[in-house]
Amino acid sequence: MNDVQHPALRPETIGELSLANRLAVSPMTRVSAASDGTPTEEMADYYAAFARGGFGLVVTEGTYTDTRYSQGYFNQPGMVSDGHEAGWREIAGRVRAAGAAFVLQLMHAGALSQGNRYRDDTMAPSAVPPRGEKMPEYGGHGPWSTPRSMRQEDIDLAVRGFVDSAVRAERAGFDGVEVHGANGYLIDQFLTDYTNTRDDRYGGGVSSRVRLAAEIVSAIRAEVGPRFCVGIRLSQGKVNDHTHRWAGGARDAEIIFAALAEAGASYLHIASEGRDWVETATLDGGMTITGLARKVTGLPVLANGGMHDADRAATVLADGHADVLALGRGALANPDFPRRLALGLPMADFDHRMLQPMATLNNARLWRPAAGATA
Ligand SMILES: Cc1cc2nc3c(=O)[nH]c(=O)nc-3n(C[C@H](O)[C@H](O)[C@H](O)COP(=O)(O)O)c2cc1C
Repeated sequence: MNDVQHPALRPETIGELSLANRLAVSPMTRVSAASDGTPTEEMADYYAAFARGGFGLVVTEGTYTDTRYSQGYFNQPGMVSDGHEAGWREIAGRVRAAGAAFVLQLMHAGALSQGNRYRDDTMAPSAVPPRGEKMPEYGGHGPWSTPRSMRQEDIDLAVRGFVDSAVRAERAGFDGVEVHGANGYLIDQFLTDYTNTRDDRYGGGVSSRVRLAAEIVSAIRAEVGPRFCVGIRLSQGKVNDHTHRWAGGARDAEIIFAALAEAGASYLHIASEGRDWVETATLDGGMTITGLARKVTGLPVLANGGMHDADRAATVLADGHADVLALGRGALANPDFPRRLALGLPMADFDHRMLQPMATLNNARLWRPAAGATA
């Protein structure tokens, strides 16, 4: 046992939600649901393992929110049918029984959809061809198609999808939802200058480009109970543009964070797509993006990107840069990361081969004996 407890092992609260510690599992797409989007028993085992391993908070993979344009990948789970809701209820029961808080990440892929069982075309704020190429790890190949520009009716239906899925999540026993506003997907496409060339109330300056995110948060807030957590995830980098940074730097960040707090967000989760908080966190003026989010909103802030480095994790908490740390690859390598940290046990290194050729749970299982892994 360590002499001094790591600060990540101290309890924390997010609004009404009590967390056993400050370690969260970051949302991770595993493209392992049934073809109709129903969560599986295998997914229940996967999520329950993180809870048993001591994570205070488990955030699910991005889950689609309507039967129109939201689905991003084949075998992505949804939260749009009674079958989806029943599947998630099973998983939520197991995760919460093992002591973790459980939050469903709600995702609309927008232009970055590479597999949608309901249709072939895509929709986005503007008809701008996405940068980069589809992602083989989630079953895509080649260039993205050019999306159709969304009409007001499409925007209203997309918002409705988020709200209905959040209501289902509350009914299924989740502690909250996290709106996926990060990594280049629909909400981030609205937020980003080069993918949003609209001239209506959703386009123009950053305070207009953040409007969709704020409307979704406040629309969910209005229909769920007061104790239900409504977080939002943001990032500067994107899956198809790792080096993107908000053009207005800290000034843009302040406007975005303030709008989301005003809309009623319970927490802000700042992702580091591009994969490292140290690289992505420092804004002009010297503050970290997560520290600024805390200062502007007074809300709990989750930091992400390389937080499996225990020294870095301790510094981020001790220096007031964040309240909770979200681990992606570190949690995949060590589903019992918190338990190992508490006991001073060695951590396994993340091996990218566990996600190849696709990031499915089955491929991870096949990789395990080959890698001689014990996790
Ligand atoms: C296999 C995989 C799937 C991911 N899927 C999602 C997702 O569904 N939603 C999301 O917001 N981020 C997703 N991410 C990004 C992670 O949540 C996280 O931001 C990233 O891995 C960096 O954190 P890390 O350094 O702890 O791994 C995914 C990452 C990985 C490795």
